[in-house]
Amino acid sequence: MREGAYGPLREFFDRAAVDWDERVTVKPDFLARVVEVACLRPGDSALDVGCGTGVLLPHLLDRVGEKGRVYALDISPLMLERARARCPRAVCLCAPAEAIPLPAGSCRAVVCYSAFPHFPDQGQALAEMARVLAPGGRVVVAHAESRQAINDLHRRLGGPVAHHLLPDEATMGRLVARAGLRVISFSDGPGGYLLVAGHREGGWTATASRGATRG
Ligand SMILES: C[S@@+](CC[C@H](N)C(=O)[O-])C[C@H]1O[C@@H](n2cnc3c(N)ncnc32)[C@H](O)[C@@H]1O
Repeated sequence: MREGAYGPLREFFDRAAVDWDERVTVKPDFLARVVEVACLRPGDSALDVGCGTGVLLPHLLDRVGEKGRVYALDISPLMLERARARCPRAVCLCAPAEAIPLPAGSCRAVVCYSAFPHFPDQGQALAEMARVLAPGGRVVVAHAESRQAINDLHRRLGGPVAHHLLPDEATMGRLVARAGLRVISFSDGPGGYLLVAGHREGGWTATASRGATRG
């Protein structure tokens, strides 16, 4: 994916960053659930893909503690500026989900909250999340609304996000499998959209040359 492909979207989210936190309603119970299913422990590293202004970062940092590390990745410099102000301890990465600038197996959890529909190449984004995931770790793709509600919202908003859709269960299952992952759990309904995935048994661990054994 060429860097130029992100231009209009980056501009859209840079503009949205200005009053994002005033416009978006946070559902604390759902956020807590997202962090819970990521199964982080003190000292772990976690990655928030499409972190925006960083609503999830304090919760992830809380889980990994003083010795852990949280990476915050986004294509929008202005979203990242706000995330940095909210959570100076997070390590901000201005990069696309389709090319994550982290080594293979470096994160115990990769969380993508309210961002997946916007990735121009969802298969490549999942493949990258799988690559940076440590053995035994979890990839979490989450939205506080159902797939239908999110897709309707984006169609209503129009502009660069009009065709940014959350995949249905079957499509997501295929993307997950192609990325070398397996679905651990999936739910979609009025309570939100929540995919939890992990490496296929023996997948990354068996082929990894770095001898990572955790998990
Ligand atoms: C709807 S906002 C959600 C932000 C945040 N997770 C939240 O819940 O408040 C989606 C975010 O994804 C980012 N984004 C869109 N496409 C991206 C891509 N290809 N790679 C990384 N981030 C991307 C946008 O810049 C934006 O900050």
